[in-house]
Amino acid sequence: MGTLKKIVLASLCVAFLAVKWTVPRFDAESLRGAKVLVTGASTGIGEQMAYHYARFGAQVVITARREKVLQQVTEKCLSLGAQKVFYIAADMASESDPEKVVDFALEKLGGLDYLVLNHIGPSPFSTWKGDVEHTRWLMKVNFFSYIQMAWKALASLEQSKGSLVVVSSLLGKMSSPFVAPYTATKFALNGFFGSLYHELAMKKSNISISICTLGLIDTDSAMEKVSGVTKVPAYPASDAALNIIITGATRQLELFYPWFTYIVALSKDWFPSVTNHIIQNSYNYSP
Ligand SMILES: NC(=O)c1ccc[n+]([C@@H]2O[C@H](COP(=O)([O-])OP(=O)(O)OC[C@H]3O[C@@H](n4cnc5c(N)ncnc54)[C@H](OP(=O)(O)O)[C@@H]3O)[C@@H](O)[C@H]2O)c1
Ligand SMILES: *[C@@H]1O[C@H](CO)[C@@H](O)[C@H](O)[C@H]1NC(C)=O
Repeated sequence: MGTLKKIVLASLCVAFLAVKWTVPRFDAESLRGAKVLVTGASTGIGEQMAYHYARFGAQVVITARREKVLQQVTEKCLSLGAQKVFYIAADMASESDPEKVVDFALEKLGGLDYLVLNHIGPSPFSTWKGDVEHTRWLMKVNFFSYIQMAWKALASLEQSKGSLVVVSSLLGKMSSPFVAPYTATKFALNGFFGSLYHELAMKKSNISISICTLGLIDTDSAMEKVSGVTKVPAYPASDAALNIIITGATRQLELFYPWFTYIVALSKDWFPSVTNHIIQNSYNYSP
């Protein structure tokens, strides 16, 4: 094996172990009876998180726009062992719905231990063609509703020594083509909640913040967009969901899932031109 290969392999191993070892042990019992609000829980990763919290015996409020689907997810959560489940249909593009959802959860559960912000509005996978209106709308759904809900829940999380979990993306740390509006909303989240993290830490707040960096996950909405377009491997939504829950429960600031998203995030700063070359050549694209 060449020296370069050895160095690369060794640094991969070190990075992998660094990520694995620094995570404290997860106690599933800590989630029994926990009061949880999960957004974007009608499908995808949010739905899988609802099922995991249910298996752990939590008390869960789920939300999304489609009431019928929320009803079905609620029934499945109950059959999996959730202590309580409530759902509320809401549109996160609306000015009042985000706060209404937090109020609903606080009232139904009598407080909150976990606020898991996960929803995203649908956004096309295509070159930027100047649709500012869509970007403005997406910013409301993917960003403004997050900061509204977090602010509304802060006092309750402070009392319960709770956790704020933000589901972000590698595209919140690194730019990539065909997703300009989406990546903008994720960069906004990373910036905002990174700043809030410092403020809470500096005032010795009881609240932990977790910012989750996900790579490609095999949800229907993601697969619809990228199948045939990229060879990047997709990871299972259920496993992603469990890792997010563990990150929140162990009060870790960051999750990188799958683990190599950590390497990619580092390499874009260390080796920008190589990384840019790889990014631009990982899509089937003809202008
Ligand atoms: N899948 C991936 O490859 C991937 C990669 C990196 C990061 N992530 C992150 O993981 C999280 C979940 O992604 P996902 O793939 O599971 O998404 P998804 O399957 O598209 O689910 C999105 C959820 O948000 C809800 N939603 C959409 N528009 C809404 C609105 N206006 N108001 C309220 N709820 C709305 C949807 O339900 P309704 O339609 O019923 O409203 C659905 O429950 C997101 O934060 C995403 O950025 C995903
Ligand atoms: C942390 O929680 C306790 C109650 O459990 C509360 O008295 C205290 O004020 C909280 N800390 C902050 C910084 O608000």
